[in-house]
This record gives sequence, structure tokens and C-alpha cells, in this order.
Amino acid sequence: MPPDRRTAKRGAARPPKPDAAADEAAQLAAELARHDHAYYALDAPLITDAEYDALRRRYTALLAEHAEAAPAAARVGAPPSAAFGKVGHRVPMLSLGNAFSPDDFTEFCARIRRFLGLAAETPLPMVGEPKIDGLSISLTYERGRFTRGATRGDGTQGEDVTANLRTMKAVPQSLDGPAPALIEVRGEVFIEKADFLALNAAQAQAGLRSFANPRNAAAGSLRQLDVSITASRPLALFAYAMGDASEPVAATHWDYLQRLLSWGFAVNPHSRRLADEADARTFFEGMAETRASLAYDIDGVVFKIDDLSWQRRLGFAGREPRWAIAQKFSAERASTQLQDIRVQVGRTGALTPVAWLAPVNIGGVLVTRATLHNEDEIARLDARIGDTVCLQRAGDVIPQIVSVLVHLRPPDAVPYAPLTQCPACGSLAVRPPGEVVRRCTGGLTCPAQTVERLIHFCSRRAFDIEGMGEKTIVEFHRDGLIAGPADIFRLHAHEAAIAARDGWGAASAGNLVRAIEQRRTVPLARFIFALGIRRIGENNAKLLARHYTSFANWRDQMVGATTVGSEARSALGSIIGVGEAVADELTEFFAEQRNLAVLDELAQLLTIEDAHAPAGAGGALSGKIVVFTGSLQTMSRPEAKARAEAMGARVTDTVSARTDLVIVGADAGSKAKRAAALGVRTVSEEEWTLIASGDGRQGLAEDSRPDP
Ligand code: IVH
Repeated sequence: MPPDRRTAKRGAARPPKPDAAADEAAQLAAELARHDHAYYALDAPLITDAEYDALRRRYTALLAEHAEAAPAAARVGAPPSAAFGKVGHRVPMLSLGNAFSPDDFTEFCARIRRFLGLAAETPLPMVGEPKIDGLSISLTYERGRFTRGATRGDGTQGEDVTANLRTMKAVPQSLDGPAPALIEVRGEVFIEKADFLALNAAQAQAGLRSFANPRNAAAGSLRQLDVSITASRPLALFAYAMGDASEPVAATHWDYLQRLLSWGFAVNPHSRRLADEADARTFFEGMAETRASLAYDIDGVVFKIDDLSWQRRLGFAGREPRWAIAQKFSAERASTQLQDIRVQVGRTGALTPVAWLAPVNIGGVLVTRATLHNEDEIARLDARIGDTVCLQRAGDVIPQIVSVLVHLRPPDAVPYAPLTQCPACGSLAVRPPGEVVRRCTGGLTCPAQTVERLIHFCSRRAFDIEGMGEKTIVEFHRDGLIAGPADIFRLHAHEAAIAARDGWGAASAGNLVRAIEQRRTVPLARFIFALGIRRIGENNAKLLARHYTSFANWRDQMVGATTVGSEARSALGSIIGVGEAVADELTEFFAEQRNLAVLDELAQLLTIEDAHAPAGAGGALSGKIVVFTGSLQTMSRPEAKARAEAMGARVTDTVSARTDLVIVGADAGSKAKRAAALGVRTVSEEEWTLIASGDGRQGLAEDSRPDP
């Protein structure tokens, strides 16, 4: 329906309810953006000026009636992300592993051959594409029409930037020629170097902040509440990958790129089909030379296995595909003055010296800080305050100080003296023998540690509380609104006080309280991760959650594990993937009464959801313990293991009474015998192939296990 008619109809009706108003406001914003783009960027208006004005008036009137319906325009002071809806990606948007040297690339190829069971001389046809450091996005097309666009976000969930993407000329609104009913196209939104400089100059002239690099400029321009700003920015796009598709579109990546071109996308014209590894090397060297003459920044080359059936078999390891790698160009360097060394206190009390530098531009990025890691590193570099240092930036890695230019050292350069007291709380700072890190001993009494823990607790991968950013946490902690994590879930009692604070107001205080309420229910793994226990990252938190399934059970078992030699302690140590060091950290955490008090307080305030079954749950091997023995003929051991894990199994090396299934390959020895002796079910490689291809579900039902 044309926008003008719909507007007229709604305009005559009764004022919409708040939700409906928000929907309509979002739709109107998108429509206006489309017309802005058509008018300003394409010079080809789709409607008359009078129709446009009517739309604009309706939008303004709607926002005047319903201030709360202003997601995309008028909310003052809210962080941009608050305004974008969330979009779950049908297929996760993953990142790429890096190769920093030719050897890394050789190892990537060798790993693929091992995984696929290919001989060393088998060629690996690939596609090479320049790697642009922009912002990756996913574009959904239904029946050939662009229906949704999202940022990568955390890879599982991104932000809905459909309205913004509609303003980009490079995003086809509909696909040319036949296409599957549903297809997700992925690519990189970026800004060319010259456009970046011009944009920064314009920002400076308007008294606005300039962007640190083209990547930030691209992200900042796309993620705009006011889509007419996005429309005015010189955003470009190269498409390069596939998300979900309702039917196959190509047999090779190269053919997929050709289909992208035929549908109307820009594909990087420097992309090449490469016959083998040697070709890939030549391509990389060529791109390193071409790099400087390109209109946009590239930081390496992405190599992708061409055959899509090989890509499927190779699958993913963690968050990275096994079938692709980003080979980076060597790091860019610059020198600058080390103006100061200041010590940061981390959430576990680690003291990290940070270099404060005279601002310097390295490959388009303004650098003012670099980590110095620890005092040994400072000693190794012999870095003194006042020195000129050589810095390098390798891709997205934090800048490193490579060396000190000693011949430029001024006579008054000051050597660094390690602190013996925590700079935040004055507690003793100690460096245990054999460790490189100095730590504050203040624990929960150290305000810096407490604040860092709170920041971690609220962060995106933990409780993900919109509006509880670093600045807010620091201020709330300083002013006594929050002392520990449980206080966050009591903040609603202080809504009026928050609203009265400088820079707040009723609307933002209300938003914060709502954001907190939305997080009162939390999955167990996120809860464990959010506690910020040393060595418990996301992966270990997931392992623990899956193993102990409920909060109450986990808490009891961890308290039990604090007793040396207890059953709970040995059970903890035997969880696959949880090492001794991790087990020690957990028991240390649970031995501390104050930590238990915090946990119990949180448990009172929250609903902690039991852990979901592992990935592949419902698959034929969900929760099963599987052992491979002997040599397999149809797939390599790593591939077999990855398939089993993808179906929810845990693959171990030794056969015990707890083993559910042993896959017996050729020339199997003692493990097959042990399985037979223990009455553990064994299957041949042929049967395994059926199971792995999904045809063997029946054969593995719980009751099909032989009686011991
Ligand atoms: S493919 C599963 N191809 O690099 C693989 N990524 O470091 C998905 N990037 O998140 C990515 N150019 O933002 C791919 N030709 C290219 C790329 C590319 C740039 C970015 C992308 C990705 C990041 C990973």
C-alpha cells in the first residue's frame, strides 16, 4: 500500500495505543528514510513533495502525541543501541581465525587436509577475497524482496537496522532474477578512505566528534537513530557470504559470488578463484602490493574453501569456521612518546600497567593507550616515562609497544617502580612467587575491583543490562546507589532518585528500571559467567551449567568441593574441559563466606533458569559419552569427533562403564575388548556413518543399550 494512503487512513482514526504508535513511528521513519534516500542520494523521488510533507507531518504529530513511541528519533541521551530491536540470526554470524604468517596459512591447509582425510598433495581450491575492516551485516530477502537487515551483534543476536540499510544504494531492495524464497546475504558495510577523511572534516566543521577510523565511521553511520543521517553518509557494501537459504544456490563459493553479482550486489572485484595453496600465496603477495592503491583500507585476505560440500563437512570449531581464514598483512608501526605509566585494577585484582601515549595515527587509527601487560614486560623493554617508543597494531589487536628508541631517551626519563600498594584502595599489592601478575589483596573491599566486577556483571555477554554502562556504574557506586551486584536488582526502589540525577529524567530512569526487570530471569550459564570468577569465561560457565544443570545443585556441589578429597571435588576435577586451575579458582571462590552471601542474595532476587541440554540436544547422541577406536576409513578422527559433538555427544578417550557407545574402526585393540567386557554398546564404522548422517536415530534410543 502506498505510504500516503495508509497515512491518510490512520490519520483519520483514533490515536493509536502506545505499542501501535511505536510500530507506526518505526514504519514511518523507515518510509521517510526510503524517500530521503530516493530524493537526496538517487535524485529520483518516488512521491510528490506534498505527499512527502504529509508523511513528515504525520510522523512529527505521532511523536508529539506519544513521546514513548520515539524509538528512532527523539529519545535524548539514550545510548543508540537502546533504540534498535534485536534480531536473532537464523545461522550464527561467526568470526574468522587469523593467520599472521605464511606458516600459519600452511598449517590451516594442513589442518583441512587432515580433517577431510586428504593426501598431502591434493590441491585445495579456494577463493581469495580482500578483507575490509568494516561492519558485517546480514540481509534477509523473502521472495526476492529485502525484508530485514541486522548487524552482527554478538553473533547470535544483532540489531535491527533494516530502516538504515534501506537508505543504502548498495543494498538491493529486490533481487534481480530468480532467487530462493528465503535467503540471507552477508557482507561488509564500509567507508572509503577519501570519504572517511571528508566525513571527519565535515564533523569537525560542525563541531562534532570525529571518528577514530573508517570502521567506526561505518558503524556509527549505520547505527543512527535518525535514518536520514545514515542516508547522508557515504556507506558502501561488498557481499561475500551466505547465511540461511531455503534451497541451495550454488555448489561452490565462487559460483555463489557470481549469483550475488547477478542479483545486483557488489562483490569485491579483486576476489579470485585459486586452484591451490601456491596460487593463494601469490594472490596474498599481490594484494599486499595492491593494498596501498585501493580506495578503501584492507588488513588482509580472506581465504575460503571453494567447494561448499567441503565447507559443510569442515563445519565450525568454536566461533570460527574451519573452512576459512583471514591472513593478515604485517602490522603497521609508528613511534610516539610514552607520557606516563598508570596502573589499572582489574576485576580479579590484577594490576595492569598501561602506557599513556602522545596521540599517534597508526594505519588510520588514533592510538593514545597501549597495554604494558606487567612489570616484567616493562623491565624487558626498559621503558621509561619520557621515552620514545615504537608501537605496532596488528589488525584488531590492541596496540603493542615493540621497542624503546633508546638513542632518543631524554636525560630526565623516569624508570617505572612497581607499586606495593593498590592505587585504588591502598591494600597491599603482592606478586606471588612464580607469577607475573601483581594483585591487590583488598578483594571485595577494593572499590576498583568492585566496580570492575559490576561492569562485568552488567556487560553484554553477562546480564546484558541496557543502560548500565561503565559510566553509570562508576557514578552509582560512587554515590552509594549500588555496593554489590544484588543492589542492581533493588534499584527500582530508587527510580525517583535516579530520575532526579543530572542528565537523567523520568523517561531514562524508567527505561533503566525496565531493562533491569527484563533481566531478572537469567540462564544459569550467564549467571555463572557474570560472577566474574577468575578463569571462568563463557565456555567454562557453559560447561559448568550443563554439568550441574541447576543453580541449587551447582551451589551445593561447589560448597562440597571446598572440602579437600571430597567426592564433589573429584567430580569437579573430572568434568571434561575443566582443568585443575579452574577447579581451584572455584573452590577458592566458594570457600569465601562473603561470596556465598552475595550468591544467595542474588538467588533470592532472580529466577535462574536451569541449563539447556547441550547443542545437538534431541540429536541421536544427545548427552551420550562416545569413544572412537581403531582407524576410520570414511572420515578422519577430528571430523568424526566434531560430528559426534555436533549431535550432542561428549567424546572421550577411555572406555568405562559410563561410556554409551564405542565406534570400532579397523584394527581396533584393547578399547573394543574393554567395551565388550563392560557390555558397552559397540558399532562398526558403517553403522556410525549412518548415525552421523542422521539415519541412525532409532538405533540409539535409550532402551536399545544391551543389558550389562
Ligand atoms: S567471511 C563465517 N569474508 O572479517 C565467515 N568476512 O574477522 C564469515 N570480513 O566478521 C566472514 N571481509 O566482518 C568474510 N571477504 C570477507 C570479509 C570478511 C571482511 C570481516 C567480517 C568478519 C570479520 C572476521
